[in-house]
Amino acid sequence: MQAVENIQKVLSELDPCKLKVLALSSVGVGGLLCYLAWRRQPKKIPFGDGWWRVGEKPFAEDRTIRPFVVETSEDVIQDLYERIDRMRYTDSLEDARFHYGFNSTHLKKVASYWRHEFDWGKQVKVLNKYPHFKTNIEGLDVHFIHVKPVQRAGQKVLPLMLVHGWPGSFFEFYKIIPMLTKTDGDFVFEVICPSIPGYGYSEASQVQGFTAIAAARIFHKLMDRLEFTDYYIQGGDWGAFITTIMALIKPECVRGLHLNMVNARAGGVKAVISLLLGRYFPFLVGFTREDVCRMYPFMQKNVYELLRESGYMHIQATKPDTAGCGLNDSPVGLAAYILEKFSSWTDFKNRNLEDGGLERKYSLDDLLTNIMIYWTTGSIIPSMRFYKENMGYDFQKIMTNTTKVSVPTGFAAFPHELMHCPWVWASSRFRDLRSFTYMPRGGHFAAFEEPELLAQDVQQFVKKVESRRSK
Ligand SMILES: *[C@@H]1O[C@H](CO)[C@@H](O)[C@H](O)[C@H]1NC(C)=O
Ligand SMILES: *[C@@H]1O[C@H](CO)[C@@H](O)[C@H](O)[C@H]1NC(C)=O
Repeated sequence: MQAVENIQKVLSELDPCKLKVLALSSVGVGGLLCYLAWRRQPKKIPFGDGWWRVGEKPFAEDRTIRPFVVETSEDVIQDLYERIDRMRYTDSLEDARFHYGFNSTHLKKVASYWRHEFDWGKQVKVLNKYPHFKTNIEGLDVHFIHVKPVQRAGQKVLPLMLVHGWPGSFFEFYKIIPMLTKTDGDFVFEVICPSIPGYGYSEASQVQGFTAIAAARIFHKLMDRLEFTDYYIQGGDWGAFITTIMALIKPECVRGLHLNMVNARAGGVKAVISLLLGRYFPFLVGFTREDVCRMYPFMQKNVYELLRESGYMHIQATKPDTAGCGLNDSPVGLAAYILEKFSSWTDFKNRNLEDGGLERKYSLDDLLTNIMIYWTTGSIIPSMRFYKENMGYDFQKIMTNTTKVSVPTGFAAFPHELMHCPWVWASSRFRDLRSFTYMPRGGHFAAFEEPELLAQDVQQFVKKVESRRSK
C-alpha cells in the first residue's frame, strides 16, 4: 500500500508538462528499440524477374532439365589449326618477359603445343566425366554440372554451388569437386557448378542489362528447379559477387556463403584514416600483423599494381565488342589475352619470367582446356560484356555494394589475391563471419591453383556452421 501511495505522490507532484516529456521519451526509447530490432533484421531485398531474349516472354515456361554432353566436331578443330598456323606474331622487346603482356617467344611455344600435342578429344572426355545438364531460365539455356556425392553411412549430404569468374569457367573446379563429393567427415557435398550465362555452355543474353544480380537470381531459380531449398554457395572473382548477391536476395535459402574474394571496404573517410594509421598503429584500426604485410606498401600494392593489372577491365567495362572481335577471330590472340591473366593473377612476380610462370602451378592441358571452352563456344565477347553490364549499369548496386550480409560467411584470404581485404572490413559487411583464414599460398584462381587448400577451408567453415546449427 505504502508503495502505491508513494507512486501516487510522485505522480501528483509531477506537472503535466513533465509527464508529457516522460511519455514522449518513453515513446522515443520504445521507438529506438524497435528501430534497433528492425535494423538487426536482415533487410529484404527484392528478388525480381527477367527475360533475356529479344521479343516477348512466352506464357508457359519450359522447366525441363536436359542432359548435355560436350561434343566436338572435326571441322572446328580443322578451322582452329588453320587459324593457329596463320597467326602473325610480333617479336617482343628484348628482355620484356611478361611486362608488356605475353612474351611472344613463349606464345609461339604455347601455340605449337596447342597445334601439335594438345588433344582436345581427350580433354572432352575429361570434361564429360561429370554429368552435364541444361535448363531454360528467364529465356536462357543455363548449363551446369551436377555431381552426386559418394555417401558413407551416417554422412549428411549438403548441396553446394560453386560459381566461377572471368576468365575462368566451370572447369576451374574439376580438381576440387572430388575433394568435396568424397570426404571422411560427418558431411559430404552434392556439387552444382553452373556456367554464368554468356560463359562457356550457358547461353548469352540477347538484350542489354544482364548483371550479376540477374545471374544470382537465375542460380537461385536453378537450385529451386533442382528442388534444393537450403544450400551452401562458394565463389571467387565474379563468382564472389554473384554468390554474395545470392545471399542478399534469398538469405533464407543460403545455409552458408564461402568466398575466396571479398567485396567489402571501409567507407570514405574511415578508409583513409584506417589506411594512414594502419601501417604504424594497426591495432588502432583493427588490422592484424598479417593484414599489414599483405596491404603495405599501400600505394605499391593497392594502386600501382592494380592500375597495371586492370587495363582489361576498363576496355571490357566500356567497349567489349570492339576488342572482343579480334579475340573471337584469333585463337592465339585469345590464349594470350586469357593466359596472361592466369600468369599475373596467380602471382605478380610471374611478370618477371619469360614463360609467365604458367606451368609452375598449372598444366598446359588444363590451361588450354579453359581456352577451348571460350573458343569453341564463341563466348569471349559475352563474357567481356558482363563487365560493362555490371560496372556501367549500376556501379553502386554491384561493385561498391555495402549492404550487410547476414548469412554465415567464411572467407579464405589467399596471399596473392589482387587486393587483400582485412578481417575488420570483411566482418563489417559480413555480419556473421564465422571463419577468416589467411591462406598460406595461392592467388586469384584458388580452386584451380590450390584445390586442396580451398577444399579444406570450405570444409572447416561448413563444419563450424553445421555444429552450431545442431546445438
Ligand atoms: C621474349 O620474346 C622476345 C622475342 O619475341 C625475345 O627477344 C625476348 O628476349 C624474350 N625473352 C624475355 C626473357 O623477355
Ligand atoms: C546491393 O545489392 C542488392 C542486391 O542486388 C541490391 O538490391 C541493393 O540495392 C544494393 N545496394 C546498393 C546500396 O546499391
